[in-house]
Amino acid sequence: MKAAALAVTAAFLLTGCGTEKTLPDSSAHDIHSYGNPEKVRVRSVALDLTVSFENRTLAGTAILGIDVASGKDPLLLDTRDLVIEKIDASVNGAGYTEAKWSVGQRDKILGAPLTVQIPGGTSFVRIRYQSKPEASGLQWLTPEQTAGKKHPFLFSQSQSIHARSWIPIQDSPGVRVTYTARIHTPKELVALMSAEHKGAEDGVFDFAMTTPIPSYLIALAVGDLQFQSAGPRTGVYAEPSVLAKAAAEFSDMEKMVTAVEQLYGPYRWGRYDLLILPPSFPYGGMENPRLTFATPTVIAGDKSLVGLVSHELAHSWSGNLVTNATWSDFWLNEGFTTYIENRIQEAVYGRDLAVMEQALDQRKLAKEMAGMPSPEQILHADLTGKDPDENTTGIPYVKGSLFVRLLEQTFGRPAMDAYLRSYFDHFAFQSITTTTMLDYLKRELLDKQPELAAKIPLQEWVYEPGLPASAPRTVSEALEAVSKDATAFGNGSRSASSIPAGKWNTQEWLEFLEALPPLKAPQLAQLDAAFHLTQTGNSEILDQWLQLAIKADYAPAYPRVEAFLLEVGRQKFIKPLYTELMKTPAGQARAKAIYAKARAQYHPIAQTAVDKIVGSNVP
Ligand code: BES
Ligand code: ZN
Repeated sequence: MKAAALAVTAAFLLTGCGTEKTLPDSSAHDIHSYGNPEKVRVRSVALDLTVSFENRTLAGTAILGIDVASGKDPLLLDTRDLVIEKIDASVNGAGYTEAKWSVGQRDKILGAPLTVQIPGGTSFVRIRYQSKPEASGLQWLTPEQTAGKKHPFLFSQSQSIHARSWIPIQDSPGVRVTYTARIHTPKELVALMSAEHKGAEDGVFDFAMTTPIPSYLIALAVGDLQFQSAGPRTGVYAEPSVLAKAAAEFSDMEKMVTAVEQLYGPYRWGRYDLLILPPSFPYGGMENPRLTFATPTVIAGDKSLVGLVSHELAHSWSGNLVTNATWSDFWLNEGFTTYIENRIQEAVYGRDLAVMEQALDQRKLAKEMAGMPSPEQILHADLTGKDPDENTTGIPYVKGSLFVRLLEQTFGRPAMDAYLRSYFDHFAFQSITTTTMLDYLKRELLDKQPELAAKIPLQEWVYEPGLPASAPRTVSEALEAVSKDATAFGNGSRSASSIPAGKWNTQEWLEFLEALPPLKAPQLAQLDAAFHLTQTGNSEILDQWLQLAIKADYAPAYPRVEAFLLEVGRQKFIKPLYTELMKTPAGQARAKAIYAKARAQYHPIAQTAVDKIVGSNVP
């Protein structure tokens, strides 16, 4: 027992962060956590929580299993707006004695540190606590905000630093924990977590995640949910009225898992299920292990937006298996994932679609970078004084994926695929920094072929702003043709009705709308008459169209702008629409009026983001 404990401690000192001596990589220090894992490290979490929709609280206990380096240090945890009631410490997990603790000052971005004085030999710390109704990582929905309109709904969103608003924990992606949970819910509802199901009876649900994961992947949802299988280890959860449509849309899930396994090795999480959330979910998707959370806005009816599932599934390797150690290394998660997403799309739906998606990404990146301050264009992000949620631009995603694609094109696909597979095996279930990734890349790929490596300016790619001249450029012939149509329509040399859009897929439509020069309202009216864009059921096309409509002050689209902003809380859609509205005085009035009605329906994370665009004191 003693020897085993020592071995564990030694291992954790080697991978720890914070002090000079024990630090393999000084950049591993996480500025977004108050935790002290280099001294006292949380290894496991056992939750027992009761879900109260009346109070909008999770209340109960978290028992943290810890490793202690020296025995002198307190345990430091992250919290945000938690009500801490009592803390006990235990040597063996059986008998507990009360411990002293204090909550420090609340920082706007980080929340407040919780310091627990632990007696020598402490292995477990039990915290009795409640979350607050305004917890940033939880959204409590009224029945009216769900598809079924009968039952309330709760879901968590822990990435980036919101786990601390519902669990007292070392909330850093460099600290991995196993977890168990017992969740008590109203009897008619179902609880789901990013973990294996261990039991479900009469409003009591048990879960276990037995491989260590970072805190941002701990996830919970409670609602009127049903399941439909998609394959031996895949399936979809959704509210009953959404389930059939969702299951049809995502019927290729099993194929996707098989495709990515052939590329990068076994899927290591057992099941891969999808949970369709109500439309206020602030993201497209969230890669919670075993159970991706997804927005219903990707259900287009024709599978044209399922790239989102490829993306979240890809995170099962790049992100969940090999994790960014700090939020400055976020591009390791998203850049590699965006690359792999595209490989899955290619494997399942063919090269033409994959190339179109690459080209669309590149166009969007170029547009976005044009207005972006240089420091924000760097892959390894400096997030000093910033909320990591603000780093969700095309830089970590698309610039990151272009770096990986450059490696692929330079060293060849077979070599790159073999390299990535070895990378995932080597760092499986670890959190690593950019430096660690680059060291491995040099050792295992670049140094073996120096003449090819000379074509990869690493420093420029990872630490400098801008898009390097060595960036791969994807040309999609189909999209080039569409882009010409857009130009021709824009300059009046082509009428709306003569545009050959009959066979266009979603990606071609998106290219057309993106490639249009600034239009006047009558031109939008012509397009609308020919193609009924204001009425489209495809959320991506609609979002793009509504942005153009606001720019051109195309009045017939305003009711749809309002309806969309009231229904959907996905930040990718609502932020650009509010931003566009805020550009004119009339638009500002419109934005404020809509936001006054919509704000209460949005997730706390989306509220924070839109507050910055529209202002929080809406009338
Ligand atoms: N992990 C992200 C979502 C995220 C990022 C949440 C940062 C909080 C902070 C997820 O994998 C993602 O990238 N989602 C995208 C989808 C995608 C297809 C690019 C989204 O939500 O739009
Ligand atoms: Zn992602």
